[in-house]
Amino acid sequence: MNADLQRPKGTQDILPPESWRFDKMRRIALDTARLYGFELLETPIFEQTQVFMRVGESTDIVQHERYSFIDAGGVDLTLRPEGTAAVARAYVQNGMYNWPKPLKLIYWGPMFRRERPQADRYRQHTQFGAELYGSEDPGADSEIILLACRVVEQVGLTNPDVRINSIGCAICRPNYRKALVDYYSARRDELCQDCQNRLEKNPLRLLDCKVDVAIRQTAPDLADYWCDDCKSHIESVMAQVSQVGRPIRRDPYLVRGLDYYTRTVFEVGHPSQGPNTALFGGGRYDGLSASFEGPGAPAVGFGMGIERILSAVGDQFPPDEAPLIYVAHLPGFMGQAQIMAEQLRNQQLATESDLLDRSLKAQLREAGKKARLALIVGGREWEQKTVQVKDFANGQQHIVELENLPLFLKDRLRDESQDTNGGSNL
Ligand code: HAM
Repeated sequence: MNADLQRPKGTQDILPPESWRFDKMRRIALDTARLYGFELLETPIFEQTQVFMRVGESTDIVQHERYSFIDAGGVDLTLRPEGTAAVARAYVQNGMYNWPKPLKLIYWGPMFRRERPQADRYRQHTQFGAELYGSEDPGADSEIILLACRVVEQVGLTNPDVRINSIGCAICRPNYRKALVDYYSARRDELCQDCQNRLEKNPLRLLDCKVDVAIRQTAPDLADYWCDDCKSHIESVMAQVSQVGRPIRRDPYLVRGLDYYTRTVFEVGHPSQGPNTALFGGGRYDGLSASFEGPGAPAVGFGMGIERILSAVGDQFPPDEAPLIYVAHLPGFMGQAQIMAEQLRNQQLATESDLLDRSLKAQLREAGKKARLALIVGGREWEQKTVQVKDFANGQQHIVELENLPLFLKDRLRDESQDTNGGSNL
């Protein structure tokens, strides 16, 4: 295919059965969030560009990874690179600050970042996210972390290794920032180009550098600069999470790449993903809603990369299979087979029938590949208002009266191993 017609770099077509794994993951994520009382929120996948500028102009996803365009009406729009700013905008615009507190919101959908394409780093990825508004208590942070852990555990990733840090607040962070800048400025010549830029624009991200790791080992530690409130906040979050049996450890270098965080930041990786790739990450961002001209509200949340989760969990997370029935037919009975299939679907039974008018042998070959049970419509049985049923699980076949058919099929599908109907082996 001509390169101009191919899908854009860094995007994917999600084909079956992978598409069904996505679907199953979505159901698990949403059901798990409901266990905690979260409500589902849908926001547009594009917003006015100013919405995402609130994430912070020194953030990579805002600075040089934006998919922005001016529409025919001259409006500057951006495909959402993340969900938190969009939720904050919706929170303020819909007056959700008047709703009962705490407000617990979840979302699921595509995010767009013009990143350098590489394994598990896409230009369109899917996030499941949660945002909890209205509580500055450490319990809100721990609830968010516990929800994210429970979701990944439900999918088969047991004992997620939660790394947490506190980047302090408006009172203590400036002192730390100054100490960090002094420390790194004295070593400016040894720094990589990125870190020289960070030193000017976003010094906390110096800790995040994957190149200058030796220098950061003797850098000032945030923990030595936390004010009393920040110190007791992170200690309470960690105590709460570990008291329910979840491992959690402090990572002194964790700062995260988004500018809106205050205090808590956390991330979870996975051995299959390499050291710099998170399955989910999040933190507290108490100042964001005020930047949308709404009343300031404390908030904390996470975003989870679904492609990364599914890649980490691999084949241990197979899609649910519909226990399919295939309605085959003898020559001349294709129409009746389709009617029969439709009647079975009325009974919520997943059913296919042949649409190519193939030989019975070819139909049964296909049925054997995809179905649990095959029916054969036509012939003497059909005249006697019965139908032949083949069970591929055990090779048995049965003659079943049409009026008993739905019940019979449901019974067979309910218990694959049992044979209570006296079928004969083929
Ligand atoms: P984030 O760390 O930028 O945070 O993204 C959250 C998660 O999305 C990452 O941990 C990762 O699993 C996945 N992800 C991000 N970029 C990509 C990509 N290019 N390809 C594949 N997966 C990716 C946020 O977006 C914040 N809004 C999270 C948050 C919510 N903080 C507070 N509330």
